[in-house]
Amino acid sequence: MDNILIQTKDLSKYYADGKVAALDKVNFNIKRGEFFAIKGPSGSGKSTLLHLIGGLDKPTSGEMYFEGKDLNSFLRKSGSRLQNVGFVFQVFYLWPTLNVLQNVLLPLVELKMNAKEKTQRADRLLETVGLSRKRQAAISNLSVGERQRVAIARSLVAQPKLVLADEPTGSLDSKNAENILQLFKKINRESGTTIVIVTHERMLDSYFDRSINLFDGRIKQI
Ligand SMILES: Nc1ncnc2c1ncn2[C@@H]1O[C@H](COP(=O)(O)OP(=O)(O)OP(=O)(O)O)[C@@H](O)[C@H]1O
Ligand SMILES: [Mg+2]
Repeated sequence: MDNILIQTKDLSKYYADGKVAALDKVNFNIKRGEFFAIKGPSGSGKSTLLHLIGGLDKPTSGEMYFEGKDLNSFLRKSGSRLQNVGFVFQVFYLWPTLNVLQNVLLPLVELKMNAKEKTQRADRLLETVGLSRKRQAAISNLSVGERQRVAIARSLVAQPKLVLADEPTGSLDSKNAENILQLFKKINRESGTTIVIVTHERMLDSYFDRSINLFDGRIKQI
């Protein structure tokens, strides 16, 4: 079906010679344009699943498809992951020696676009996340919430089809956490980017189009 972006079939990931089933035969799909949540308690397999969907790790067994193509061979093609998937990690992986704008520009380094166009694109996103005034600031002078917003702008700058965010609100207070969630939702609605958010917090279900709940590596029906 062509409105399916990601599809898994009996997706499994085992650690410690098979003793730990981080994911056990997981079947689900994510549709194009969805605002999607992966929930579950600590250790239930959320990050493992997110890394597999983003092609950062390989499954032990099972199948995964990105727009109907084998996900791993597709995303591992040169430049393909950069263009198709944006990541926001819980630890933001911002470069401390680069300023805000330079961090947002990083995913564009290898793209053939002129510098002015790249900067315009980055500045538009900095405006979206409310950081235009801090575009030249050093990362070390930003609050945690501001760093998170830099990471979000960076995840979007290459205009990927899919953005994966691992507990993007985990280190924020509830007010800032809600702001970040609203920001993601706005981006999802305005650009149609498919956004998948991992969380073990109890967040308002009404934010999401759909969600799955993991428990001990399996999807729990609730
Ligand atoms: N590299 C690894 N080696 C061995 N076991 C691992 C490894 N990575 C994860 N695990 C195990 O796999 C299971 C799932 O881990 P995962 O990190 O996906 O959970 P999570 O749902 O993201 O948890 P949290 O909410 O705490 O981030 C856990 O039991 C974890 O201990
Ligand atoms: Mg995790």
